[in-house]
Amino acid sequence: MKAALQEVDIAFHDFHPPEDDFYAEVIEGLKGSPPTISPKFFYDQQGSRLFDAICACHEYYPTRTESKILRDRREAIAQHVGEGCVLIEPGAGSTEKVRLLLDALRPRTFIPMDISREHLRLAAQGLAEDYPWLDVCAACVDFTAPIPLPVDPDGARKVVFFPGSSIGNFEPQAAEDFLAHLRDMVGEQGGLIIGVDLKKDAEVLRAAYNDRLGITAAFNLNLLHRINRELAADFDVTAFAHDAFYNDELGRVEMHLRCQRDTDVRIGGETLRFARDSSIHTENSYKYHVEEFQQLAARAGFRPRDCWTDEDGLFSVHYFEAA
Ligand SMILES: C[S@@+](CC[C@H](N)C(=O)[O-])C[C@H]1O[C@@H](n2cnc3c(N)ncnc32)[C@H](O)[C@@H]1O
Repeated sequence: MKAALQEVDIAFHDFHPPEDDFYAEVIEGLKGSPPTISPKFFYDQQGSRLFDAICACHEYYPTRTESKILRDRREAIAQHVGEGCVLIEPGAGSTEKVRLLLDALRPRTFIPMDISREHLRLAAQGLAEDYPWLDVCAACVDFTAPIPLPVDPDGARKVVFFPGSSIGNFEPQAAEDFLAHLRDMVGEQGGLIIGVDLKKDAEVLRAAYNDRLGITAAFNLNLLHRINRELAADFDVTAFAHDAFYNDELGRVEMHLRCQRDTDVRIGGETLRFARDSSIHTENSYKYHVEEFQQLAARAGFRPRDCWTDEDGLFSVHYFEAA
């Protein structure tokens, strides 16, 4: 396996933000009211591994449901997209889902983008090895900043693949702004294949973000371990507990790290105090009705062309064209 990986030649562009940004953003977020840590910081190498483990949890329906929709609908998706496009996947993670589409879509170039550098490198190399006909050009980026496109599309159609309901991690207005940015990136002939988690029974959502094996809890707490490791902080991780619930009014699952007792943390010359029962807000995951999301995408310059859901109405995959 190792020898084979070394033979694979992929283009890898590293636009990872400087480490100083991590410190500055963490301090600013922790001093906020309420304290927050951006969900993009979940994904160091350990966080990416834990996310893959979450995807395999019984309670976490989104991955298997979206994967089944993509598998069942790949021919219909391919008819919309056409052959030979430049396929761009922001937040590509382990690149498992794109594998369900590649043989049907036959893109000219695949551009996986992710903030988790080593995880992305391994995933992209594995993909290039398994699909020798495919030009793989990986880019380590923070997609909350303007995304540079590392290849010249040379007239080919540009299509963004954005699965995993990662769009739900943006506030609704920020989601619209992000889609508008994708719309600019793909241009007039462009397309967007996007996976969006649907509004549903609160108990199903609660269970999905509170798996019995405690993997989502470990994923959430890894943020503090990461800050301790990389910023020489001294979070007492045992003073915090994973807390995830559905906020019906705002239509989102919220993840928090809830303080079990008063605790101080030293980080880069500052001491921050967290009181018992207060929390650090680490992620929102907005859920949408199909029409609600289509309206949001339309405001960003995308015309709805198709939408597929599973028979239980848990998850949706949309195809949009540039309007
Ligand atoms: C919810 S996971 C989804 C992974 C995969 N696309 C899927 O559907 O299973 C989010 C992915 O986006 C990446 N990510 C999160 N925030 C990011 C950011 N600001 N810039 C680039 N990648 C980011 C993470 O490293 C992770 O691989």
